Amino acid sequence: MTLPALAETAGLLAATGKGLLAMDESTGTCNRRFAAAGIAQTLAMRHAYRELLLTAPGLGECISGVILVDETVRQAQADGTPFVQIAQEAGLLVGIKVDTGAQDLAAHPGEKITEGLDGLRERLQGYAALGARFAKWRGVFAVDGRRLPSPACIDANAHALARYAALCQEAGLVPIVEPEVLMDGAHTQQRCQQVTEAVLRGVFAQLARQDVRLEALILKPNMVIAGLACPTQHSDAEVAEATLQCLRRVVPAAVPGIMFLSGGQSGRDASMRLNALHQRPGSPWPLSFSFARALQHPALDIWAGQDANRAAAQAALVHRARCNRAALSGEYDTAMETR
Ligand code: 13P
Repeated sequence: MTLPALAETAGLLAATGKGLLAMDESTGTCNRRFAAAGIAQTLAMRHAYRELLLTAPGLGECISGVILVDETVRQAQADGTPFVQIAQEAGLLVGIKVDTGAQDLAAHPGEKITEGLDGLRERLQGYAALGARFAKWRGVFAVDGRRLPSPACIDANAHALARYAALCQEAGLVPIVEPEVLMDGAHTQQRCQQVTEAVLRGVFAQLARQDVRLEALILKPNMVIAGLACPTQHSDAEVAEATLQCLRRVVPAAVPGIMFLSGGQSGRDASMRLNALHQRPGSPWPLSFSFARALQHPALDIWAGQDANRAAAQAALVHRARCNRAALSGEYDTAMETR
């Protein structure tokens, strides 16, 4: 795949006024969410839920691509139609999460390193043959007031993200590069900004070192938000301002799109902040969303594992997608929530 072809795919993902549905929870994470919603944690239920998401009527009006997970990418619905084909027919580009999860970083208590580079070249070729056009790898960074994340954690995860991104481009897949500064903790918004800048600087240095082509990747960062337990929380306008200031300082203009993760924000908060980001002029990049929780909730709770609730759950998913699509043109209004 040539660089222009990869750059075109990146543009289709990020620059068409739509966003991504991340439905790539690992089995462990999916089961935890099912347990919290009182849903049986079985392969059959995960299959049913992912089929519900992928077949939601109207999803393709607001969503440009879906991020699947290895368990899902070879599955098919009852009539034998592969999930990949369902996505493609709905106008959705297919992506795949290819990291194998975050493990404890040796000698650094409380910190994680994302693994999955071994055998990645072959796995990427397999996913490309199945129809995937892009991939995702998430590095996570715990924050505290002063010590975390360590330079070791930033370096190790930035290196892994860059090695992954280079392999993706070699395999003809657009890499989504996702360094997530976590919202857990009582750190201030200023601390989140400081850490996010340091992490992104580390990531872009490593991307350059590994000769990753910036025109053919998507950045998936966190917004700059105070920790969930911080007593001082900021307005949507302040979140947008800090987020844009942070990104402008460190993200090269060559990057064709930035698609935010939701990170545990409520669906409504994520939409409000995305909207605030689009009410400020002059972003060098298309800014969009690549949400899991902020799109899937409350659909998961509404479904509750019951077939009878399927249509209502799909409607809730598409509603959140529409709210976020409206936010991409600065036209989201909480009044949309009551319509
Ligand atoms: P959230 O939107 O729930 O943070 O998930 C995004 C994602 O893809 C995590 O890797």
